[in-house]
Amino acid sequence: LSQIEIKLSEIPEGKNMTFKWRGKPLFVRHRTEKEIATEEGVNMSELRDPQHDKDRVINPKWMVVLGVCTHLGCVPIANAGDFGGYYCPCHGSHYDASGRIRKGPAPLNLEVPYYVFPDEDTLLVG
Ligand code: FES
Repeated sequence: LSQIEIKLSEIPEGKNMTFKWRGKPLFVRHRTEKEIATEEGVNMSELRDPQHDKDRVINPKWMVVLGVCTHLGCVPIANAGDFGGYYCPCHGSHYDASGRIRKGPAPLNLEVPYYVFPDEDTLLVG
């Protein structure tokens, strides 16, 4: 299937859920107010692949990225690492809760796929 529909009410606040989309893991994270504030406050000069959080999300409550490490393609672990987001155990890349690379060998942020919110409880990716 080229599109996946996800019911947002099934993802509790503070949780990351992994789905399978086009043969790849897809992360959907229901961010807390604290996580949103932290990610929006990150200084661009601290980033290897500078992107403001606002340019990576449509609704700040929901982070939607591919769960594919931009180093060599392993699947990062959610809610792990030094930046409150994701940790890739293969060679030690740390991503924040916006999916941005913060430490380790990966060169780029986790990829944001095309998605829309057709209604308040639905996420449609692809
Ligand atoms: Fe993730 Fe190497 S594949 S750090």
